[in-house]
Amino acid sequence: MDNEYRRKERAVLVSILVVASVAVASLLAAFSYYCYIRNKVAKRINTRSRKDAKKQSDLGNFQIVAEKGLQVFTFKQLYSASGGFNKSNVVGHGGFGSVYRGVLNDGRKVAIKLMDEAGRQGEEEFKVEVELLSRLHSPYLLALLGYCSDNNHKLLVYEFMTNGGLQEHLYPVSGSNSIPLKLDWETRLRIALEAAKGLEYLHEHVCPPVIHRDFKSSNILLDKNFHAKVSDFGLAKLGPDKAGGHVSTRVLGTQGYVAPEYALTGHLTTKSDVYSYGVVLLELLTGRVPVDMKRPPGEGVLVSWALPQLTDREKVTQIMDPALEGQYSMKDVIQVAAITAMCVQPEADYRPLMADVVQSLVPLVKHRSTSKTGNQL
Ligand SMILES: Nc1ncnc2c1ncn2[C@@H]1O[C@H](COP(=O)(O)OP(=O)(O)O)[C@@H](O)[C@H]1O
Ligand SMILES: [Mg+2]
Repeated sequence: MDNEYRRKERAVLVSILVVASVAVASLLAAFSYYCYIRNKVAKRINTRSRKDAKKQSDLGNFQIVAEKGLQVFTFKQLYSASGGFNKSNVVGHGGFGSVYRGVLNDGRKVAIKLMDEAGRQGEEEFKVEVELLSRLHSPYLLALLGYCSDNNHKLLVYEFMTNGGLQEHLYPVSGSNSIPLKLDWETRLRIALEAAKGLEYLHEHVCPPVIHRDFKSSNILLDKNFHAKVSDFGLAKLGPDKAGGHVSTRVLGTQGYVAPEYALTGHLTTKSDVYSYGVVLLELLTGRVPVDMKRPPGEGVLVSWALPQLTDREKVTQIMDPALEGQYSMKDVIQVAAITAMCVQPEADYRPLMADVVQSLVPLVKHRSTSKTGNQL
């Protein structure tokens, strides 16, 4: 009886022990699973925060680069750089206002653009746009060095281009003291190529693409060696609006350069810039301004007058700038005339890409520059 009782007691004890050890084992298993999961989550959080931290520091660097890339000037600094915006320092007038020659404290020569009707454009919008444009860098684009957005004053500071706008050399103002020599054929071809490279960068090397909106000969600036840079890219939308709610000429571009579909529907694409580029090519070929109603009937609008003659081998020499005095070969003229005709055709889709234009101009310029002037491109 006693034996029987003891056996039962041992059996109960064994089963308690078994249950207890199973419980302990499952507790241990649960605990280690918990540790495993915790570890995993911690690792994931760690990598994410490291990634975030990296992103943050990248952003930090980016902001520093952006700040370094663009100098913010006070109105006082620019006032003194331009000699108090002295009239004798005016180098030109445009859709934005006047442009002054200036010298900064560190001796750098600059062009200072003083915007008319300041205050109409939101200050923040002005800064954001300008900072965005300051991130575009190409040897064929004019460098924006800084800006000032003080109360009602809005100014842009650019590198100074000694030889000014292309239009000054194509159409020298009679009666001016220093009449520049008309540009020769080689220089015109090189300017055409460099300007094409500037637009190609805006259209095809930047994402999203930048449409210039106001491409014209006065926005092609020439340095001391007559190398060209495109200026005022994408800035047209910052221009002051005309009173009365009308769309300003800046927004619509400049008369004679505006693609027909943009003028009619306001639909703007990179192909509108290609049209304006074609008009500049026409100016380089003919030495004529895009619109001059004082010319004989039928010759007032450059594109309408020149287009039918561009594709006619016999007639094309008749439209060439007499100042070129036949420095060109027929082969080159026919090629440039063909590119021009494609750029200014009314159907936007059939106009070439700027990359195509660059491709077709490169051989003409290389050949010329190595055989005659040895200029580096
Ligand atoms: N960075 C510069 N360096 C030298 N001259 C400049 C510079 N920017 C503009 N100019 C001169 O000022 C003129 C007016 O320029 P701008 O205000 O851009 O007007 P627009 O291009 O509408 O004619 C140009 O045609 C050029 O002669
Ligand atoms: Mg300009």
